[in-house]
Amino acid sequence: MAKEKILVTGGAGYIGSHTVVALIEAGYEPIIIDNFSNSEESALAGIAAIVGRSVPCHRIDCTDAAALRGVFEQEQNIAGVIHFAAYKAVGESVEQPLKYYHNNVGSLVALLQVMGEFKVTNLVFSSSCTVYGIPESLPVTEQTPVQKANSPYGNTKKICEEILTDLANSGSRIKSIALRYFNPIGAHPSAKIGELPLGVPSNLVPFITQTAAGIREQLTVFGDDYDTPDGTNIRDYVHVVDLAKAHVVAVERMIGGKVEAIEFFNVGTGRGNTVLEAVQAFERATGEKLNYKIGPRRAGDVPKIYADVTKATEVLGFETTSTLDEAMKSAWDWQLSLQDKSKK
Ligand code: UD1
Repeated sequence: MAKEKILVTGGAGYIGSHTVVALIEAGYEPIIIDNFSNSEESALAGIAAIVGRSVPCHRIDCTDAAALRGVFEQEQNIAGVIHFAAYKAVGESVEQPLKYYHNNVGSLVALLQVMGEFKVTNLVFSSSCTVYGIPESLPVTEQTPVQKANSPYGNTKKICEEILTDLANSGSRIKSIALRYFNPIGAHPSAKIGELPLGVPSNLVPFITQTAAGIREQLTVFGDDYDTPDGTNIRDYVHVVDLAKAHVVAVERMIGGKVEAIEFFNVGTGRGNTVLEAVQAFERATGEKLNYKIGPRRAGDVPKIYADVTKATEVLGFETTSTLDEAMKSAWDWQLSLQDKSKK
């Protein structure tokens, strides 16, 4: 039987590249679209080294409907699309909101138009737990009310979910699953693909690994006066390899015709960990001592959030298998492999 083709926008990116590997392992034929604005060609080599063959990649921008049309014409018989391509830096989005609205919202609209033209009806969309804002109760379920976004980045995720809902309600044949990610961390156990932050990382785990590697001097823990057991923020850190598998089961559900309009799923572990627990997990898993200090709160941080993943478990059959320590170890192995490459 011919393998089903899945178009993966942003397939050279952090979550995208891990998902491409997971799709191949599950018997799908992923086709990557990426403009490499926040990813590197080396991700394609890393994927190829893991799966033993190269994966087709179209170097285009998803806001360009004509270029997208060219890909759909060339590829034919696309069974579904996973749309990762988006900007994700919260602070930058506050400074350059139009860049975020143009790219994140514009690419989804262009993609949906072209999917409609080519009668491709299945979409899995990368959303974020940012849509829940500061939740009133924990853990958050998919029924937890969505709140006003506290950054343009967060607003693009909220708007994109609304666009997909409006489209589904319009009678369109396009159905979607929006996966609301909690905090993706870690890297493929082979250390051939992982996160490649541009410049100074704003996310915790790449900052930790770069500090341990001596690229950054010291990690600042943003506040220890929150209402949590040790005073630092609580997040739900999910291993990117587990997160990647959520996309495979979502695609399976879509292709099986089980989605009637739009469905939302939290994708996390169901466990909350403080920043200091994350630091301790890193130290325990790697044997490295981390230089850190407690600093002031970071504006816009949610004090605590973690997922209820019952729906993803029951409906998608999603499960996580990695511990926080394993995720930290894989992030460190990836960091070490980057150091090795830069020495060569
Ligand atoms: C952030 C965004 C989220 C987005 C995600 C994608 C906010 C409020 N949320 O998640 O919407 O989907 O990035 O990139 O911006 N921390 C430190 N020191 C550091 C870095 C982080 O203490 O140097 C702490 C933070 O205060 C937070 C935790 O580590 O408690 C995780 O931070 P981070 O990795 O930036 O993710 P979020 O802020 O949860």
